[in-house]
Amino acid sequence: MFLWALFLIALTASYLSFQSFVDTSSRYFNASWGGMHWEKQIRASATPRRRGGVSVLVTGAAGFVGTHVSLTLRKRGDGVVGLDNFNSYYDPSLKKARKALLTSHGVFVVEGDINDARLLAKLFDVVPFTHVMHLAAQAGVRYAIENPASYVHSNIAGLVTLLEACKSADPQPAIVWASSSSVYGLNEKAPFSEADRTDRPASLYAATKKAGEEITHTYNHIYGLSITGLRFFTVYGPWGRPDMAYFSFTRNILQGKPITVYRGKNHVDLARDFTYIDDIVKGCVASLDTAQKSTGSGGRKRGPAQYRIFNLGNTSPVTVPALVGILERHLKVKAKRHVVEMPGNGDVPFTHANISSARTELGYNPTTNLEAGLKKFVKWYLSYYGYNPRSGGGATKASKSL
Ligand SMILES: NC(=O)c1ccc[n+]([C@@H]2O[C@H](COP(=O)([O-])OP(=O)(O)OC[C@H]3O[C@@H](n4cnc5c(N)ncnc54)[C@H](O)[C@@H]3O)[C@@H](O)[C@H]2O)c1
Ligand SMILES: *[C@@H]1O[C@H](CO)[C@@H](O)[C@H](O)[C@H]1NC(C)=O
Ligand SMILES: *[C@@H]1O[C@H](CO)[C@@H](O)[C@H](O)[C@H]1NC(C)=O
Repeated sequence: MFLWALFLIALTASYLSFQSFVDTSSRYFNASWGGMHWEKQIRASATPRRRGGVSVLVTGAAGFVGTHVSLTLRKRGDGVVGLDNFNSYYDPSLKKARKALLTSHGVFVVEGDINDARLLAKLFDVVPFTHVMHLAAQAGVRYAIENPASYVHSNIAGLVTLLEACKSADPQPAIVWASSSSVYGLNEKAPFSEADRTDRPASLYAATKKAGEEITHTYNHIYGLSITGLRFFTVYGPWGRPDMAYFSFTRNILQGKPITVYRGKNHVDLARDFTYIDDIVKGCVASLDTAQKSTGSGGRKRGPAQYRIFNLGNTSPVTVPALVGILERHLKVKAKRHVVEMPGNGDVPFTHANISSARTELGYNPTTNLEAGLKKFVKWYLSYYGYNPRSGGGATKASKSL
């Protein structure tokens, strides 16, 4: 009896361990990443092709800014590996098209989430990245009303997962990441300077970016990670985001559909410090180039590390009606304007950057005004979608944001 019982227990135990072996191996074999061939592609993409080149992990690489930054780095001979989860906040086919562009220039983009700690550990295991350009985020201001959890997932939880991976990496990379002008929230003092108050956010998006500035400060303080936070001011240009006003205006004007133009309190027009993508890219690359090394190792700080925050704007706000006027001229089509009072769900009346700090420290000097930048955007839009797009890359879930 006793021996039989022992035998049955042994049989059950071996069956269970076999089950778990099958489990792990099937998980291993059908994972979207991993394996020798995958590692080879990662290493090739991460290898600089110039003397003194850097090796950068770009998160959000299939996004608007991420694509442009990755291409610029690759073209000057740096090593670049992209990471993006290709979520459907806006038309994923545009993200796939950006990825194809990157692939054709030798940039490998991993499909994965910044919340995947195992994937991040693997990437840092395979490549000793010198820098991380962190651009993955849930963007957009009004979408937070519909899906608040997506902001917490990417901008808070994802950020912490990424910082944990960076802290443990050997060597620790220097981190440059995208904050946002939206952290100025209800600030009324113009232009916005880095030292101004940022404790009155007007949207959940802004609150998560502000939280990111505090969270990165903590990792800088405790673990010696080198941190540069960039507060972008309304970035626009070719390969842009379909959820943004200039993009959806273009689509609607071409389709003969009305556009909704929001107006602020007391009939004051909304205004934005629109910043052209090439100028933003220069600011990003200058940040990478001037970033000091992280000082920690083995998860421990060895000395104080750099912590910087810069505005990257254009310093000349333009009203939304003026933006529409420029688009009408470039498209040679009159817009059907539908002017309504701005709903109080996240947008601020105006933004205006003081960029004197970025000028001094980064040599940042924006050179493209809205007129010239929109001309390039419209040229790209027409070549990508044609004059009569059926869907025109419509924002799938998003409502347009400025
Ligand atoms: N474009 C602007 O006007 C602007 C202004 C201020 C700040 N920013 C910030 O700049 C960064 C880039 O913005 P963008 O305009 O290129 O936006 P984008 O949405 O085009 O790019 C972000 C990319 O990150 C990816 N992503 C999102 N969550 C992810 C996750 N959890 N894991 C992996 N990938 C994920 C998305 O698929 C997307 O491709 C963002 O952090 C954004 O908040 C942009
Ligand atoms: C692996 O594939 C099986 C069958 O296609 C699926 O049920 C399982 O969820 C997959 N596992 C992972 C980790 O993707
Ligand atoms: C711009 O910011 C700098 C600090 O970076 C400050 O000295 C200067 O006074 C600011 N300019 C204005 C007009 O607010």
